[in-house]
Amino acid sequence: MRPETELDLVRRLRRLVLDKSTTYLDDLWLIPVDHYTDAARGQRELTDLLRREPVVAARSSELSSVGTHLAVTVLGIRMLLVRQADGSVKAMANACRHRGAQLVEDGGCGVSKTFACPYHGWRYEQDGRLARVPHHFDSFVPIEKRVWGLVEYPAAERHGFVWVVATPGTEPFDVEERLGELDAELEAHQLGEWRLVRHEVFDEPMNWKVVADGILDPYHPEFVHPETVGPYINNNVYVFDAFSPTAARLVMSKRSIASADPDKVNSNPSKYLFPNYLLLPNTFLVFQSRHFEVWTIEPHPSGDPQRSLIHIRILTGPDMFASEEEHDAYVEENWARFMKVGYTEDWGVARRVQKGVDSHAFTDTIVGRNEAAVHFLHSFIGARLGDGEDGLRLLGDGTAPSDMSV
Ligand code: FES
Ligand SMILES: [Fe+2]
Repeated sequence: MRPETELDLVRRLRRLVLDKSTTYLDDLWLIPVDHYTDAARGQRELTDLLRREPVVAARSSELSSVGTHLAVTVLGIRMLLVRQADGSVKAMANACRHRGAQLVEDGGCGVSKTFACPYHGWRYEQDGRLARVPHHFDSFVPIEKRVWGLVEYPAAERHGFVWVVATPGTEPFDVEERLGELDAELEAHQLGEWRLVRHEVFDEPMNWKVVADGILDPYHPEFVHPETVGPYINNNVYVFDAFSPTAARLVMSKRSIASADPDKVNSNPSKYLFPNYLLLPNTFLVFQSRHFEVWTIEPHPSGDPQRSLIHIRILTGPDMFASEEEHDAYVEENWARFMKVGYTEDWGVARRVQKGVDSHAFTDTIVGRNEAAVHFLHSFIGARLGDGEDGLRLLGDGTAPSDMSV
């Protein structure tokens, strides 16, 4: 984070704390409950939104040298990421063009010059070109090898992440442009240099947006985390800055900010600040002292709208640890903290949100004027899907819920 950004955030948050204020939307909004429970809605979010946007698929360091490959599943799509001779990364379908067999098993990684299909031995080059078809001449003419390579997905690297769009044939994309001014801020963190030290995937019984809403919520810590982080955080106080339709920064503060010197740059911006970077549609970077917690949230591959897969990656900062032992102890301690605060406390309540909305006792949930980041996410989704009247809408005068007025 640049020093001027840190000073600006400390000043704004300190002012809000002293004024007992926060960042407000102009209006209250309603989110249809169906958006969290309906299978057709979930399918549309997956195919028309999430699989059409660049999303995080891996860390660049997982594909260190030419020919390194990694078999990943992104938004339910199995892909092979391969480091090319020119240094770029290609994302290709992990499926043979003949009868469709998977080339590399889920999670498989390694270095190889070619990929041979285990079924009938078709062989592909590192860049996906079809190189060999056994019995080509007698059985597969007029199949031309040059046009039957592996299906390719758009891919790019930025800030040490491999980004892909999980729909073949879609346009190339530019992460820098999508991030707007946030790109320079992530650059200032040297995010590309941070090291991936842990990656776990959780299968959880709540819609992917319930999880996202939770991480975008500055209104809950005092209630959900009364014995962990709650006592250190200024509840319901935050600043929110959008840099583009898909990039924003939500920052909360520590209680100690009230006595901070608003003109002093600190050696670590996390002395007073809890920044959370939104990389929509589904990735959130939570900055914490010497690590980033990276959340990438996906709808469940089963199609059940009431389940999701949550990738949690831990990245540790460069040159921040005196020894590997200190580093490893720090990672262990912070993973245990995540399991308590995130897995047990945040997701404990998220699981209950899902049970509550699934009762369909009412048609909408409410977004308060103090929930700007939640509004940002849902209005982005609505705009991309062309929701109109079926989406997020103004509460109106709020005197009575519309579904109670019969
Ligand atoms: S399915 Fe791959 S060679 Fe037949
Ligand atoms: Fe929380």
